[in-house]
Amino acid sequence: MKKLWGGRFQKTAEEWVDEFNASIPFDQALVEEDIEGSLAHVTMLAKCGILSNEEAELIKDGLLILMEKAKKGDLEYSVAYEDIHLNLEKMLIDEIGPVGGKLHTGRSRNDQVATDMHLYLRKQVQEIQEELEVLQRVLIDKAEQHVETILPGYTHLQRAQPVSFAHHLMAYFWMFQRDRERMIDSYKRINISPLGAGALAGTTFPIDREYSAELLGFEAVYQNSMDAVSDRDFIIEFLSNSSMIMMHMSRFCEELILWSSEEFKFIEMDDAFSTGSSIMPQKKNPDMAELIRGKTGRVYGSLFGLLTVMKGTPLSYNKDMQEDKEGMFDAVNTVKGSLKIFAGMIETMKIHTDSMEKAVRSDFSNATELADYLASKGMPFREAHEVVGKLVYTCIQKHIYLLDLPFEEYKSGSELFEEDVYDVLEPQIVVQRRESLGGTGFAQVKKAIIEARKTLV
Ligand code: ARG
Repeated sequence: MKKLWGGRFQKTAEEWVDEFNASIPFDQALVEEDIEGSLAHVTMLAKCGILSNEEAELIKDGLLILMEKAKKGDLEYSVAYEDIHLNLEKMLIDEIGPVGGKLHTGRSRNDQVATDMHLYLRKQVQEIQEELEVLQRVLIDKAEQHVETILPGYTHLQRAQPVSFAHHLMAYFWMFQRDRERMIDSYKRINISPLGAGALAGTTFPIDREYSAELLGFEAVYQNSMDAVSDRDFIIEFLSNSSMIMMHMSRFCEELILWSSEEFKFIEMDDAFSTGSSIMPQKKNPDMAELIRGKTGRVYGSLFGLLTVMKGTPLSYNKDMQEDKEGMFDAVNTVKGSLKIFAGMIETMKIHTDSMEKAVRSDFSNATELADYLASKGMPFREAHEVVGKLVYTCIQKHIYLLDLPFEEYKSGSELFEEDVYDVLEPQIVVQRRESLGGTGFAQVKKAIIEARKTLV
């Protein structure tokens, strides 16, 4: 088939070669952005006197017809026209005649594709930012119900100190808060117009880049035409920010998977977010959480894919950059889908407060409290650590926990122990007393929840 750029060619490529070269199977997702960009471009061309008003009106009418068809899914694409830009240009010419060929005055596919990607990501970043906020609200609501629910806090996946379940949930709130801030911050680097940079060097036509940028709602224009067409930093940044969101969800998913096991039994996933086994009738598997954990890998993959694509590309545009799209689309769908499922899982999961509490009562996670007790009575902390370590060892020998250890044992450990030691060891008290800023004490956690809510309004 004759190409729109076919003038200097004596031969046409075979279809299987066209297929390899084409991006239309996936960049058709940019159809609306591409038409929006063209509408702004043609409006600018008329304003600058490069096209007559009549020509511009004809082109705009044609573009609007294509937009309507695109929204209805009525456009038929062909790999012979390679990508969304050439497919639309061909359709425009078919629709309104040769005047359609004037649309591409003073522009190149290189600034055009970059413009489409900026428009696309600008919208997606806004939507993901909103999804993150929905998730943060789910976390706060859950946290509010569980300020006084206690469970073991872990380091090295070994029981460390008891904490409020709300405190644990709110740790994730702050991770997603940073993710949201990163998305919002990236917006200013996405919301910049490359349009009018041409193939790489600008154009001889008296275009007004600031005007087309303004029509598209961009805050600024790229100051260097070569940078404008070859920059993919904003996509890499998006993939990096998306990787971080996935990593945060994945960590929590790992906990949810552990917690819903028979060994932990801290939570039960709602039936609506679980699956069964085809052979073992008793099974209820946390598939959604596992899938989010797994999908994290593919988003990282897209980040590394694009970083690698870009590392060897000389200025300015290179066809390698067509490889920026699939990973980006995939990351957008993966992050959005995962955020939605994740929020649903958290919202609906059942919390077994009794198992959490039971776990805290059958461990040594109150041992630090005991060392603090001695330290507050004047014993150097290092010595107190040693005394308590020995008491823990005694308990292990006797198969009991610190609350069950007879008072004489305490006395033989240190004269500083008094009968109130048993109150101090109560897990609820242990948690409640950690009132340092950002600590897990109930009053602190309540305060932190109020502060967190303020960041969402
Ligand atoms: N389909 C191409 C891409 O996605 C559009 C730009 C092509 N430009 C060119 N000079 N071949 O990158």
